[in-house]
Parts: sequence; C-alpha cells; structure tokens
Amino acid sequence: MLILGIETSCDETGGAVVADGRRVISDVLFSQTDIHSRFGGVVPELACRRHVDVIDHVVDEAFSKAGLDPEAIDAVAVTQGPGLVGALWIGIAFSKAFAYRYRKPLMAINHLEGHLAACELDGATIQYPAVGLVVSGGHSSLYELAGGGKIREVGRTIDDAAGEAFDKGAKMLGLGFPGGPEVDRLAATGDPRRFDFPRARTDNRMDFSFSGLKTSLRYTLDRLRRQGDAVDGCRADLAASYQAAIVDSVVARCVVALEKNGAKMLVASGGVAANSCLRRALAAVCAEREIALVIPSPVRCTDNGAMIAAAAYWHRDDIRESGFRLAPRPHWPLG
Ligand code: KG4
Ligand code: ZN
Repeated sequence: MLILGIETSCDETGGAVVADGRRVISDVLFSQTDIHSRFGGVVPELACRRHVDVIDHVVDEAFSKAGLDPEAIDAVAVTQGPGLVGALWIGIAFSKAFAYRYRKPLMAINHLEGHLAACELDGATIQYPAVGLVVSGGHSSLYELAGGGKIREVGRTIDDAAGEAFDKGAKMLGLGFPGGPEVDRLAATGDPRRFDFPRARTDNRMDFSFSGLKTSLRYTLDRLRRQGDAVDGCRADLAASYQAAIVDSVVARCVVALEKNGAKMLVASGGVAANSCLRRALAAVCAEREIALVIPSPVRCTDNGAMIAAAAYWHRDDIRESGFRLAPRPHWPLG
C-alpha cells in the first residue's frame, strides 16, 4: 500500500511516499531554519508563506524521486494537528486539492502519532505493550501503547516542552536556533558535572517540567557574570550540564512508565530524540532492564512527511475519507 504523507505543522514542509507504513520510497523535506533563525524562533506568518511557496515542489519531487506517478498511490495522508493553525491549513488545503484531482482518499493524521509511527520506518516493529516517548519542540509526552491503535497518554509537560527547554537554554547561552542541535554539539566537549542543575522530582509520576531548570540556568549565568567569570570559558560545561539535567529528567519519567506498564519496548521520537546524550541514556536504561528500544534515525525523529504516511498505515483498515470539510486541529492531544 502506497501512501503520500504531507507534513506542514510547523517549520518543515515534508512530502514522502511510503510503502506499507515502513519502506520509505522517497522523503523530501524543505527546512525553513534559515528563515527563522535570525528571529530565534519560528515566526508563524513566515512559516505559512514558505509552506505555500514550496509545497507543490516538495510533493512533485517526492514523486519524481520515487519514480512514481501520483495515480500509483492508494491514499493521501496529511497532518491535521497539533501545530500552528496557518501552517496546518497549507498542508490540508494542498492535500484536499491533490486528493480531489487524483480521486484518492484523504486521511487526517495526528502529528504526535506520526512521531510514534516513525519508529516503524527503517524496518522495526513495535512490540506491545510498549511505552512511547514523544519529545519535541512543542510536546513532551509519555504514552502507553497497547497495540491495535490503543494509545493512552500517561504523562505530559506541565510547562515547557523538552525542545523548548533546549531552544530557550541555547538562546541564553548565545547559541543559534534551533538550539537543541547546537547544545548537543557544544555539550560533546563539556563537563556535564561542572554545574549542578536541578532535576524536577518524579515522585513516581510521569509529568515533565522544565521551567525550574531554565530559571536555574538564568541565575547561574547571572552569577557567573556578577562574579566576573567569563561565561565564554565555560559555555561547553554549561551546555553539557544543562543537557544532562534535561536528559536525566526525561529518562527518569521513562523508567517510571516502563516499570508501571511492564513494557516490552520503549519507542522514542520527536526532535529531541535526535539528541545524542538522550539516545545513549535511553539505550543504557533499556539494556539494564532487558527492554527493547527503538529510536528512529535522527532525521526521522524531527518532523517529516514519511512519519505521517507511517501513521496513516496504522489506520489502513478504516480508510475513511476525511472529506473536504477537513480543518486543522491546532490542539489535538493524542490518546
Ligand atoms: O519534532 P520537531 O522537529 O518539531 C516539533 O514537532 O516540535 O522538534 C523540534 C525540536 C526543537 O526544539 C529542536 O531544538 C529539537 O527538536 N532538537 C534537538 C536536537 N535536534 C532537534 N534537541 C536536542 N538535541 C538535538 N540533537
Ligand atoms: Zn514534531
């Protein structure tokens, strides 16, 4: 079964053709990082305009790279939410026209489910019961995955998402946007034990919180500047220590979730799952507990069209036409 997946929920325009929810035939991504980096964050209006400019080229290229004609696909899948409402509208409007033109069913997909389904691209199969972690720029959530499409949210962030913690921390450290990859790179040369940043306690719960950590970084930077210590000299140690605090908090909550539901597998995705320190830490806790771990390759952790096609394949038995009344759901919790 061939599905065209379209993703425009934030600042990446993605179009991909995926076979049977697993085999990526083509995956084209237009990233807008250069447009937003000078503002230090995604500017919704600019994101929308760029999606409009490039979406038809992205989809054309997805078909030419796949060596397929649009007639060959079985369905069009598009992100309906959550995300930026204007950005979502572009993908949805384009998909409606495309589905109408080629008389294909149109499937509306939850972006967070897309991140989880990305774990099955590259050949892995989720073993149930599993725990799913989605850590991205907009979300930090833990899910119990029972199979057969049953997904229950068991933890969410009560303030910032993990990606926001990375991005805002990076800004304070004078690094570029998006901050996560910059912190990841700089932290590789730093000492994660030099600064003792707080880890929000779990108390056996699975909700995330990063605002205290962010404030702590601000106070630490203020203190260093007051004392006349050059922040430049310890930027890598600050990045490594700050990253370690985020990673410890995320991993602690995964451990609670894994122990509570007797999971066979942990699947982790979303942009922050591209983080090298988090990947190593999750691999260690899963190995200790003999739990399988699937994390997509870093390029499939961040937003892309293939993950939307993969999630659509999970719903292949109820390919209902979402219809031409389809509208964005900017706040659409999963499970
Ligand atoms: O999933 P994603 O592409 O978009 C959303 O759905 O939000 O995630 C983007 C987030 C950004 O906050 C970015 O800084 C973060 O993922 N990110 C990383 C890394 N790569 C991307 N965070 C930490 N380490 C990375 N290597
Ligand atoms: Zn995402």
